[in-house]
Amino acid sequence: MSKNSSSNKFVYVVSALAALAGLLLGYDTGVISGAILFIREDFHLSVFQVELVISALLLGALIGAIISGRITDQFGRRKVLLGTAGIFVFGSLFTAFSSNVSYLIIGRLILGAAIGIGSYIAPLYLAEIAPQRTRGVLVSLNQLALTIGIVFSYLIDYYFATTGRWPWMLGLGVVPAVILLCGALFLPESPRWMILRGLDQDALDVLKKIRAASDVEQEFNEIKQTIVNEKPGDWRLLFGRWIRPILIISIGLSIFQQITGINTIIYYAPSIFKLAGFKEAGSTILATLGVGIVNVLFTIAALPLIDRWGRRPLLLFGLVGMFISLVVMSVAFHYVFSFPIAHWIVIAGTITYIASFAISLGPVVWLIISEIFPLQIRGIGASIAIAANWGFNLLVSLTFLTLVDLLGLSLTFCLYAVLCIITWIFVYLIVPETKGCSLEQIEANLRAGKASRKLGV
Ligand code: BGC
Repeated sequence: MSKNSSSNKFVYVVSALAALAGLLLGYDTGVISGAILFIREDFHLSVFQVELVISALLLGALIGAIISGRITDQFGRRKVLLGTAGIFVFGSLFTAFSSNVSYLIIGRLILGAAIGIGSYIAPLYLAEIAPQRTRGVLVSLNQLALTIGIVFSYLIDYYFATTGRWPWMLGLGVVPAVILLCGALFLPESPRWMILRGLDQDALDVLKKIRAASDVEQEFNEIKQTIVNEKPGDWRLLFGRWIRPILIISIGLSIFQQITGINTIIYYAPSIFKLAGFKEAGSTILATLGVGIVNVLFTIAALPLIDRWGRRPLLLFGLVGMFISLVVMSVAFHYVFSFPIAHWIVIAGTITYIASFAISLGPVVWLIISEIFPLQIRGIGASIAIAANWGFNLLVSLTFLTLVDLLGLSLTFCLYAVLCIITWIFVYLIVPETKGCSLEQIEANLRAGKASRKLGV
């Protein structure tokens, strides 16, 4: 076998493993939607306790995302990936064997920490180990793997719905986690991290394994050069005036991705369908499975469009779709007890909402976050934006059921619809088109003080 094809093969294996991390993220965040229907009955939970069970995972993820930048710099990418896989295994089993709600909440916190670290480390490791030409695609593939993980979790929920065996629903996450753990044992450390630590010879050895022989020296020198220029990890740069627009764009997009309500559907869809009048747990979980599949299909549809149409048109178009769907759902919920057809309109609105999210805020937000930070602060900047994403995910999930209790579903969805309008205005006024623009050009525009919308021109 030629050196070139074996290094290609290696990149495929690494990508598959990183995708597994995305899949785990999706599985562990999605599986609770069906399981909660039975956990609620078994443990006689109040609304607040249900929110706690759902949100503990997100609190863990927030903490995980905050510490992820620091620990990956300290211990290296490979060890952290291994540790994360280990926590996934432990957390899945811990939640599956919880005998009361307190254990369940602790287990979800532990799993959440793995999710927060995983959402940072998987794309970072990939970006550092993959050849430059495949980096962009891999970021979006991560999102695709996540949506597939959600579908898997819904399938498992559906399978166990008749018996209501929620420990199986939660516990089966252990399977991909063990595969990730075993696979990660064989992964090499990122050469970039090794060079950062002065382990030049080790880095050269890894590069020889994963690149064609002719590319090794050039890449080694390039990494060394960027590290000299970068002075990596200097977080004081974040307070520089010229960086501010980037922080506003990335944190803003992260927050808007969450407060427009996506995870009220991803985590609570069966509960929402139950409120819409579908009585059987099985049929509500089946409808949810449909939602998950639409999410995957429209994420696939979005991938080629991101580079053809550009990021802005997708965002603006998708947000209009989300807004209309939420208004339709809001009206349908208002009439849900007067007209039986309103039940079906709720389902239709949910599906068009998910489709609109999947072609816009779903993949595009993560892509822009990975593109717009200057190299110097990409790690720390991304970790802040990811933490904001989990933080607001937590806020929305923790308040959703309480809002529904207070305002009713109709007004709650109306609120998310209003937030879609604000998001649309934010994107229209501030978010740049980064399609076809080199990262160096974006950085030069930033330093020249160009308006944030024009950073990609
Ligand atoms: C979001 C998640 C969401 C998922 C749904 C991601 O882009 O960050 O919060 O659950 O999309 O597909």
